[in-house]
Amino acid sequence: MYPGSFDPLTNGHLDLIERSLRIFDELTVAVVTNPAKNALFSDAERVEMIREATRRLRRIDIEIFDGLLVDLVARVGARAVVRGLRAVSDFEYEFQMALMNRKLREEIETVFLMPHEAYSYLSSRLVKEVASYGGAVTGLVPPGVEARLAAKLSRR
Ligand code: PNS
Repeated sequence: MYPGSFDPLTNGHLDLIERSLRIFDELTVAVVTNPAKNALFSDAERVEMIREATRRLRRIDIEIFDGLLVDLVARVGARAVVRGLRAVSDFEYEFQMALMNRKLREEIETVFLMPHEAYSYLSSRLVKEVASYGGAVTGLVPPGVEARLAAKLSRR
């Protein structure tokens, strides 16, 4: 299971999805519903962007979830949670989450994968910031996401 906010999906996320599919038979991309995080895109939009960008991939499923990640992992019957580690700065937060999830359900492992180094500086937050000031995000997000960002931000 690959959980996240995906607000929006970036090419770094897509790289992680492809790497995960080389290791695991099936992958559920789990999109968290988190009103406190003030998402730019709705749940449905975030799912749709992932669906569009992964249409060519097999063995993938997309779920929206609300609640504890470990409960979804158990319900789906997943063996592991995949998270990306871009830089040392990601480590602290990821370490805490992985150990908290293990405390909640010790049978669930967290597997960390490194995205391609070309994406090591990439985040949804920065993509939104750059796009909001009219900067180019070509090559950082799938074309469908780029178009939706432009449409959404021009309406604001
Ligand atoms: O893309 P993000 O925002 O870094 O993803 C964070 C996410 C969704 C994986 C995390 O916030 C999460 O698992 N949320 C669900 C609620 C939960 O289980 N919280 C306890 C985590 S230790």
